[in-house]
Parts: sequence; structure tokens; C-alpha cells
Amino acid sequence: MSYKKGTPYNDLPLLPPDINKWESIEIYKSLSEARAALAELKGRCPVIPNPMMLINTLVLQEAKDSSSIENIFTTSDKLYRAFASAKPDPDTQTKEVIRYRQATLDAWSKLQKNEISLKLLVNIYKQIKEANDAEGIRDEVVYIGNAMKTIYTPPCCKKVLTSKLENWVEFANKNDGLDPLIKMAILHYQFEAIHPFTDGNGRTGRIMNILFISKKGLLDKPVLYLSKYLNEYKNDYYRLLKEVTENGNWADWILFILKGVKDTSVRTLKKVNDIYELYKSTVDKVKKEANEIYSYEFIEMLFNQPYCKINFLVDSGIASRNTASKYLGRLVEIGVLSKEKSASESLYLNKELFKILSQ
Ligand SMILES: Nc1ncnc2c1ncn2[C@@H]1O[C@H](COP(=O)(O)OP(=O)(O)OP(=O)(O)O)[C@@H](O)[C@H]1O
Ligand SMILES: [Mg+2]
Repeated sequence: MSYKKGTPYNDLPLLPPDINKWESIEIYKSLSEARAALAELKGRCPVIPNPMMLINTLVLQEAKDSSSIENIFTTSDKLYRAFASAKPDPDTQTKEVIRYRQATLDAWSKLQKNEISLKLLVNIYKQIKEANDAEGIRDEVVYIGNAMKTIYTPPCCKKVLTSKLENWVEFANKNDGLDPLIKMAILHYQFEAIHPFTDGNGRTGRIMNILFISKKGLLDKPVLYLSKYLNEYKNDYYRLLKEVTENGNWADWILFILKGVKDTSVRTLKKVNDIYELYKSTVDKVKKEANEIYSYEFIEMLFNQPYCKINFLVDSGIASRNTASKYLGRLVEIGVLSKEKSASESLYLNKELFKILSQ
């Protein structure tokens, strides 16, 4: 391996890496634990009556975590408010997080019909960064690190990057018998090592993780997001990427990602269960204490995102403006929602849901 710090790594090897570089009993043991935890999560998701309830909320949380790896910070509260607002005036960082969410969902829906492609990657990047059409795969040298120190210098320029990405796409789509979780780990390293864009590579790469395993059938819905884990172990994340580059240490990288899948599956399963329990108890409470306003659609709406407002009920035909206001007021009375003033409109917070999501 001929990597030299400070010089674009044009010798970055194409995929796949030699299996002898990573295969071990330890990896397969860790793989089977990750697969089991993920399968349990997949099996549990259908209890949530409307899958959008889960997807909406989890993707928003992921958008926040993934962006904060890049020091793009917003609070859960700002994010949810901006998301519910008709005239969002969120700060630019919150906007970027909201674009991350949309980019994930758009790409996920495209992948229902299409293979993974170069265009898909570029579109995710463009959408997150609001890049214009001329931008795309970079034609300039970039350095990873900070002003004081370069950690890694990815390959350059456009032609080299394009051919490495074509190899990446081919490996992603190929049915070669390699386990999808192992492939996801390999793909994520390689994508970051190629680093095809001027910015947003971390986020585009992390969005691809979930898209890839969904595409391979390990999940029916995009509900597994590693960013919280990667953020918690950010030093390891960066160190192990570097280890692959400098020492060909694929094994530790793959183990790290498999552990992330297992931990995150367990954590997400708990969230799914908590949301489900809260949903059921909310239905019971409303039926018991305010049965006159109960409808399936109405309660479901309270779980689509933590904030609700009059317009949501009006737009979805649940109630007229006056009635909607009464309905929401009634839920405040029985303690299901709390009313929060914002500049332009009243927002109603599902506090318990908010708590679960922000955990
Ligand atoms: N040594 C390394 N080799 C390859 N990739 C690396 C290395 N260290 C970090 N990275 C990747 O580069 C990403 C940062 O690149 P970039 O700033 O373009 O993406 P981003 O989405 O803006 O940032 P972030 O990933 O922090 O959200 C990191 O998140 C990580 O995925
Ligand atoms: Mg960045």
C-alpha cells in the first residue's frame, strides 16, 4: 500500500478487499449477533400502525446526530419546531439538518425501483449541501483534518474519483455472496476514502449505509441509523478509518461497524417498543377521558412528529379550524399534549414522544 500523507491517495485499492485481510471467527461471531439484533428490530417494526410514524421521527433524529458529527448543531426542540412550522425560519444549521432528512427519504424512495448508482450518490450530496448543478464530484484536492494537521488526503481529481466510484457502485450492486453488513462496512470505508465531494462526504456515506442494507432486504423501512453510535465513538470512527488506509486493518473497522449495528438495533428496538406502548396508552387515555374527540387518524397524527398544530388537522380533513382548536385544547386538558407558543402559531407538543425520541 502506497499511501503517503499529504499526497492524494490515487492508489486507493479498488473493491473488494482481499477476504484474507479480514475474515475471522471473531468477525462471524460479531456478524451473527448484529444480524440477530437487526432481524429482531425488523420483525418488530410492523407493530407500529403507520410506518411513517417511525420513519419520520427516527430520520429526523438521525439527521440531527449525523450532522452533529460535522459540528452542525441544532437542538431536538428547534428541529421539531422548524419541521412543524409553516413558515420555517430556522437557523441555517437547522435547515441543513432538515435537508438531510429529506435527502434520506427521497433517495430511499428512488431505490425502491432503481439500483444504486453514481447519480444517486451525487443527488444526495447536492440535496444536503444545496449544491448547484455544476457542482458534483470535485475537481480539486481536499485534505481531511484541521488547519494544524492533515489526517488524510483522498484521491484526486474528477476522473480518478469517478472511476473509483464506479467500482464502488459495481461492488454495491453485485451479488457476490458477501454478507450485506460486511459489505456495508467495506462500502462506508471506501466511500469516505474516496471522499468525492468538497463537503458532506460523511453524511452522504452514512445515508448510504441505511439505504444499502434496506436495498438488500435487511430492513423493510429505513429505521437503523448509526450516527448516534458513530458520534459517541467518534475517536474510534476516525481512528479506524485511518487504520484501514495506513495498515490495511479491515478487521477492526468491520468489527466496529458490526458492533454499531448491534448496539443501534437494540437501542432502536427499545424506541420502537416505547413508541408503541405510548401510542397504545394514548389511545386508551383519549378513549376513556375524551372519547368524543377520538379518531384513529387523529391519534396517529400525534405520533407523526412531536409537534402538532391546527393546520395539520385541517389539512388532513380531520377537523375544521374551530373544531381542531377545540380538539387540541381538549388533549391539553387531559395532559396528552402541552401548548407551546411560537412566534406565529400555537404548537402542541407530545411531550412523552419527544422524551422517547430525544433519549
Ligand atoms: N482518515 C480518514 N479517512 C477517510 N475518511 C475519513 C477519515 N477521517 C474521517 N473521515 C470521514 O470524513 C468525514 C468528514 O468529511 P466531510 O466534512 O466531507 O463530510 P461531512 O458530512 O461534512 O462531515 P461529517 O462526517 O463530519 O458530518 C467523516 O465523517 C468521516 O466519515
Ligand atoms: Mg464537512
